[in-house]
Amino acid sequence: MLTGIICLSLARAEAQPIEEVPFITSPDNVTLEMLSSAGVKRGDHVIDLGSGDGRIVILAAKKFEATGLGVEIDPSLVERSKASARNAGVADKVEFRVQDLFKTDLAPASVITMYLLPEFNLQLRPALLALKPGTRIVSHDWDMGDWKPDRTTVVAVPNKAVGREKSSKIHLWTVPAKVDGLWCASGLLRGASITLTQTYQNFSGTLAWRDRTRELAGTISGSELRTPAGSSGELVLQATGDELRIASAQGNMALVQGASFRRASGATCS
Ligand SMILES: C[S@@+](CC[C@H](N)C(=O)[O-])C[C@H]1O[C@@H](n2cnc3c(N)ncnc32)[C@H](O)[C@@H]1O
Repeated sequence: MLTGIICLSLARAEAQPIEEVPFITSPDNVTLEMLSSAGVKRGDHVIDLGSGDGRIVILAAKKFEATGLGVEIDPSLVERSKASARNAGVADKVEFRVQDLFKTDLAPASVITMYLLPEFNLQLRPALLALKPGTRIVSHDWDMGDWKPDRTTVVAVPNKAVGREKSSKIHLWTVPAKVDGLWCASGLLRGASITLTQTYQNFSGTLAWRDRTRELAGTISGSELRTPAGSSGELVLQATGDELRIASAQGNMALVQGASFRRASGATCS
């Protein structure tokens, strides 16, 4: 699998030159909402891409007990961030580096935060999608094109310096597991198969077993796939690497609960 750093380098190499991102701070209420919206907690590692004066990473450590890394191209902002971290008493929990965000290894992050520009978000998108399923990504104001956010929160910013709206949008995504393709059952359900088509955090497909076929459609949150509880009941699947397990099934599919499927190596289940 490509690491975040390789993906980022590729994205940068193919990219056209884009506008530089100026230093504008996320206001305190926006910073707080970015971290709350991602559910940051002790054990999380937050990477802020373009960390400015370090406020996001410092708040993540001070209020939410996370560790963090801020990468920033402006050395004077990195020095300022280090001093602020010392003043806030979190210098042992956070790191600030003078570094191009496109050359940063994102794999250690459980949460990525960014306040960049739309073009930057789109260039980062392939590397973000390649991160561990369940990694949360929060972007101040800018989205990621057709990878729609799982949730968007709007926060009032009466003194906002840029744009006409006196508010900020906070977009949240959770990196979905890669589940596209054919999955084959073993054991008691041998012969059953699941075929899935995935578009970002949405999937559709079929579960086929003996003479029964069930249409599947729903959303992926990290490693969990969930169909809505319709007439045939909710189905929850858990994806772990090359295994897809039916964690819970209702209605006439209750029998398949616990069944496990492996990613097919060919075009059919043999
Ligand atoms: C809009 S500011 C956001 C600062 C901070 N994240 C916040 O929300 O308060 C964007 C920051 O990204 C930095 N930046 C721009 N391009 C960068 C790059 N290629 N690598 C690292 N930092 C970059 C800028 O210097 C600026 O400080």
